[in-house]
Parts: sequence; C-alpha cells; structure tokens
Amino acid sequence: MSALTPKTRAEIQRQRDRYPQARSAVLPSLWAVQHQLGYLSPEGMSEVAELLRLTPSEVEAVASFYSMYFDHPGGRHHVLVCVNVSCALRGAEEIVSHLERRLGCPSGGTTEDGAFTWEQTVECLGACGGAPAMQVDNHFQENLTPERVDAILDGVRGDAAPEGPQLRPRSSAAPGAS
Ligand code: FES
Repeated sequence: MSALTPKTRAEIQRQRDRYPQARSAVLPSLWAVQHQLGYLSPEGMSEVAELLRLTPSEVEAVASFYSMYFDHPGGRHHVLVCVNVSCALRGAEEIVSHLERRLGCPSGGTTEDGAFTWEQTVECLGACGGAPAMQVDNHFQENLTPERVDAILDGVRGDAAPEGPQLRPRSSAAPGAS
C-alpha cells in the first residue's frame, strides 16, 4: 500500500518530468512528501526512489544532508534558532531561554498543542548581519528580542503547516512582513 496520496505521487511525477535527469527532482519530491506527511518517512522516501528510478540510499543521502527535511514527525511550524558566534554575542542565549519558557519544551521538542517544533543550531544561518536570528518555516527572522519572538510566534501559531519550500527573501522587517 502506498504511503503517499495520488496527489503527492502525481506531484513527484510532475517534478520528474520537468528535468532531463530524474535525480534533479529529488529535492522538490522530498518537499512534496514532507508536505503530505509532515516529515520524511522511510516509506515515503522509498516511493520517491521508485518514482525517480533511484535507489533508496540515494534519496536518503540527499534527505539527510539538508536540515530542512525532518526524519520524524514534528509540529506544524518549525523554528530554528542560531546560537553561533554572531548570534551568541548579540543575545541568542536569551532568545533560547525565552523559547524554552514560552514553548514549554527544550530544544528539539514539540509544543503540547502541536503548533511548533523548535531547536537551536550551532550552524550559522547566514544571517549574521541581523543577529540574533532564527528561521520560522525557513523564513528568516532577524534582530530578535523576546517581544519580537512572541509576536512572530503569535502570528503563525494558528496557521496550517506551510506548503512546499518557504524560500522567501531574508527580512528584518516587522513580524509578518515578508
Ligand atoms: S551566527 Fe547566527 S546567523 Fe550567523
């Protein structure tokens, strides 16, 4: 039995047909799976491999390389907080402490209402000029303060999970702007 819906399978086939080489469609295909399931299950990745005529290990190698793909179920929204040097010097520790209190779970955890999974990362997000910074559903949020974090979280808490890759331009504007 298929782990993927006909819609997701059709999307993967559509992506495959866009490229001369099927392996070029791995990233968008994984997005389609994650959008349906909320994460990349082994069964979902196997179906991607089958549809793209690749081996499961080839698909898993791509999936495990990128931090925006999840290997276990999480909340509807994903919060990734940078604690690398620039952010650390500009208050990342306070942001992390605030998130722990506000969301009621440690880094790597999911809120009781299933709205958020959050984690801190020592990998620079590439937004040092706006430190301290985080990503919410892959959308950059910069110059964070506890108050700004609250406004950002309140702005998305009730929303459905985002569809597809959230590749929006970096922003240091007010919460909700993009
Ligand atoms: S150190 Fe945090 S974005 Fe670069």
